[in-house]
Amino acid sequence: MEKQRTPQREARVREVLAKRQKDFTLIIDNVWDPHNVSAILRSCDAFGVYGIHLYYTVSQWPELAKKSSASGKKWVERTKHSDPVKMISGLRDQGYQVLRTGFSETARPLMDFDLSTPSAVILSNEHSGTAPELAELVPDEVYIPMQGMIQSFNVSVAAALILYHGFSQRYAKGMYNDPSFTPEELEKLTAEWLAR
Ligand SMILES: C[S@@+](CC[C@H](N)C(=O)[O-])C[C@H]1O[C@@H](n2cnc3c(N)ncnc32)[C@H](O)[C@@H]1O
Repeated sequence: MEKQRTPQREARVREVLAKRQKDFTLIIDNVWDPHNVSAILRSCDAFGVYGIHLYYTVSQWPELAKKSSASGKKWVERTKHSDPVKMISGLRDQGYQVLRTGFSETARPLMDFDLSTPSAVILSNEHSGTAPELAELVPDEVYIPMQGMIQSFNVSVAAALILYHGFSQRYAKGMYNDPSFTPEELEKLTAEWLAR
């Protein structure tokens, strides 16, 4: 069925794409629960993340509910990786700081990090935490301070808090006022999104 191409829909697509941050991303490391993955994608959409990276070696990328307009799956690009070295060095070569989440003694609180610079944050499996090969490649560890009896957040909650931290820093710098894509890129993306 041909997608509706009303002026209102086009204006909305253009407005949202103009706020997408092409250099703020997450790496989803073996998160297995589809509800958690859907919730993460929805938060990515809300905070203007253009695309995320998927690293699945011990878990399968979960089957998500069918694409609906309320599904982040429809509006957040996903790049699959199987080679950890290529994935991390590829991001670093593009100038990204890469952080992993975790609680070791050298981990630093989220408030210490500036996520308004090109940033990729690894969110990891609900049971096993960060894949050892990623931990080896990524020394910088970030944690969200917790004051309660329970030791960790649900992974989708942690993702939302990290994204909100980055959003706040980028918003304060006016980074949602000017598109991070070139006019040519925006035209191409607009056409692609209108066809969804
Ligand atoms: C339930 S936790 C995993 C706990 C796992 N047993 C471990 O030792 O790492 C799932 C994921 O949520 C994220 N997470 C949970 N709480 C966090 C926190 N306080 N700070 C940063 N990330 C957190 C991390 O990505 C973590 O790998």
